[in-house]
Amino acid sequence: MLDNIRLEYYDSVDSTNDRIKERARAGEKQGLVISAGTQTAGKGRIGRKWESPKHDSIATSMLLTPADISLDAIPTITVVAAMAVRDAIYRLYGLDGKIKWPNDIVLDGKKICGILTEMEMREGSVWYVVVGIGVNVHNKSFDEEIAFKATSVDLELIKAGCGTETGHRNELTQAIWESFKKYYNIFITTQDMSGLKEEYERNLANLGERVRIEAQENSYEAIAKGINVKGELLVEVEGKEQIIRTGEVSVRGIYGYV
Ligand code: ATP
Ligand code: BTN
Repeated sequence: MLDNIRLEYYDSVDSTNDRIKERARAGEKQGLVISAGTQTAGKGRIGRKWESPKHDSIATSMLLTPADISLDAIPTITVVAAMAVRDAIYRLYGLDGKIKWPNDIVLDGKKICGILTEMEMREGSVWYVVVGIGVNVHNKSFDEEIAFKATSVDLELIKAGCGTETGHRNELTQAIWESFKKYYNIFITTQDMSGLKEEYERNLANLGERVRIEAQENSYEAIAKGINVKGELLVEVEGKEQIIRTGEVSVRGIYGYV
């Protein structure tokens, strides 16, 4: 079970995920959180870049060292983390985000958060897992390449006519890891989504709608049906059910990012 969360903060690091890896290799146990004011080499999925401008965003990563976890269950941790971020943003600001499977939280069709889970094996089993979360909080604008798909807590609160009393970023960081502890401890008892699937699906973007599955070699349309207990996406393609696994696949809306 996850308890004993320990928070450390640095002004600037290359990547909070990489700092956690270093500590894990030095023997640190689970519950360590490293957050940073900015990252100079923030990473997204599949070798992509993650922007975390100073003072505007949250970059935070947690170390997990689950005993006897199966390799199969690791991608599910990203899905659990997405639930936690959604829950924290809702509890603190009343913003009702949706989860864009597997790793993004979206508001009004744009991405407010990204999650990157990494792990290292040793002697044939999982040695440690890093869950890294980036949230756009105070950003008022974004670089041209991501402006069409990025938003922030402040921008969404302004749209909702609520002003931008988002408080300090460390409040949100703490709320995210508190929520994560709650969901992760449910997940880890079964190492699957059986206790969380229903809530996840209630908050899943595009549920019952047409989506575009973009794999490396091809791209096709499908209807999003929900998730299975492994946290994999279930879709229907020409009347047949298919399972989409986390990996090098993107799920998009038919007309845009969501
Ligand atoms: P998908 O999962 O459908 O491929 P995605 O295009 O958002 O979605 P991800 O790998 O989840 O891809 O996220 C990485 C991408 O996020 C980067 O390639 C960049 O386009 C975008 N990005 C980088 N920084 C930010 C940010 N601060 N806010 C929103 N989006 C960002
Ligand atoms: C994505 O959407 O592709 C995932 C983005 C994950 C960004 C976070 S910020 C904290 C942690 N450190 C990193 O280098 N990446 C993750």
